[in-house]
Amino acid sequence: MAILFYHQGSTGPIWVEPLRAAAPDLEFRVWPEFGNPDEIEFAIVWHHIPGTLTQFKNLKAVMSLGAGVDHVVRDPDLPDVPIGRIVDDRLTAGMSEYAVLHVLWRFREMPVLAAQQAARHWEYREPPDAQSTTVGILGLGTIGQDIACKLAVFDFKIAGWSRSPKAIAGVQGYHGDDGLEAFLNACRFLVCVLPLTPETRGIINTQTLAALPPGAHLINIGRGPLVDDEALLAALATGHVASATLDVFNQEPLPADHPYWSHPNVTVTPHNAGDSLPEFVVPQILENIRAALSGRPLLNPVDRHRGY
Ligand code: GLV
Repeated sequence: MAILFYHQGSTGPIWVEPLRAAAPDLEFRVWPEFGNPDEIEFAIVWHHIPGTLTQFKNLKAVMSLGAGVDHVVRDPDLPDVPIGRIVDDRLTAGMSEYAVLHVLWRFREMPVLAAQQAARHWEYREPPDAQSTTVGILGLGTIGQDIACKLAVFDFKIAGWSRSPKAIAGVQGYHGDDGLEAFLNACRFLVCVLPLTPETRGIINTQTLAALPPGAHLINIGRGPLVDDEALLAALATGHVASATLDVFNQEPLPADHPYWSHPNVTVTPHNAGDSLPEFVVPQILENIRAALSGRPLLNPVDRHRGY
């Protein structure tokens, strides 16, 4: 019996050494050196090559080495075994920090003030009013709810949209396709933390951007393909969208010639809003390995049909 650690081009040892140290009774093998495929009973994956898991006939479960599972469920030949994912307080906290930082940065017009400073130009600008400003969170899972709580501290009005209804204290909730337009109409700031699924791909498009109030700000920390880049660039060009802060992209790394890099109203960061460190998540990975091997349900299970 062995566990496969499958992270293409990875710094495998960063993960495998702590896993081995914490569970000396388990044997971890690192892709592509997996030995006899029949011995692999559990796979920890990050962007595996679609179709390659079918050779592991005795696989009991697959776990995503991250919060997102789009890279797992996109595999049309994914074996029919339970799927788990990471839910990590540290990753959640990082995502919230990023959202708070960039909402406040734009809300307090820091790019304008920084330009004034660069020009040695003193011009008073009235501080904006949070109580009359709505921040909308697109996606109300663990991360979206944490962002909502942390932004509420600043007295913003908080709206949230989810696929199915969710009652969250202090959040004006909207749900489903029918609720999307009314939600967007309210959002001066739109923070997108949706998972990538066939339903959410391209959800930020010409029509949905048009539903935002003029001068709205977009922050995307979910997945790049949620956004139709051409539609966003067009909305930025007219000023209907005042700014976009993007941590995730349709293509990563973002190609050097992409217009986002030099756009005056776009902030680009290298998919680092939140991340998990081995020391914090090794225990939940081990718990899932032991659960799968003994036939118990996984922690943080994923519904492969929903895609999250
Ligand atoms: C990061 O993007 C993750 O899914 O954990």
